Amino acid sequence: MKVAIGCDHIVTEIKDHMVEYLKEEGYDVIDVGTYDKVRTHYPIYGRKVGAAVASGEADLGVTICGTGVGITNSVNKVKGIRAALVRDVGTAVYARKHLNANVIGMGGRISGVGLIENIVDAFLEAKYEPTPESEALVAKIDSIPMNDEANTNEHIFDEYNKKWDEGFYHD
Ligand code: RB5
Repeated sequence: MKVAIGCDHIVTEIKDHMVEYLKEEGYDVIDVGTYDKVRTHYPIYGRKVGAAVASGEADLGVTICGTGVGITNSVNKVKGIRAALVRDVGTAVYARKHLNANVIGMGGRISGVGLIENIVDAFLEAKYEPTPESEALVAKIDSIPMNDEANTNEHIFDEYNKKWDEGFYHD
């Protein structure tokens, strides 16, 4: 499996550690940077991880910044990305298994290295288990347009809501 990983300058040493950790586990790792402690900006590396995953160059992605918020918000702006910012193993597994998340985000100043290892392991080992309900929810997430229409069009979910009302989906 190919894994793209990116970070900002706040957590470079944690990303470097995870690159070696994942390689030792047998993953093919695409390290998109950053590569040193020189001040940079997390959207650059969030976008790079997203582009690698969305293009199919990588199967899954890992994003790390200080809190995890900035880089994970950034990667979620890339079309085709469903990224989850997590602090625990259970949420990471849920995100992969049920929401088909393709990027996992963490805060290197919030979660310790041991927990980050466990979260990434669990995320990469979990498999998406599609059900009609999860497929419908993921499709609904993916249907939100990445343009002004998402902010202004109150009817983007009309088709899904109609199906829901008709009993097509079940919780
Ligand atoms: C540094 O830019 C810091 O703001 C960043 O690593 C992160 O914590 C943002 O969410």
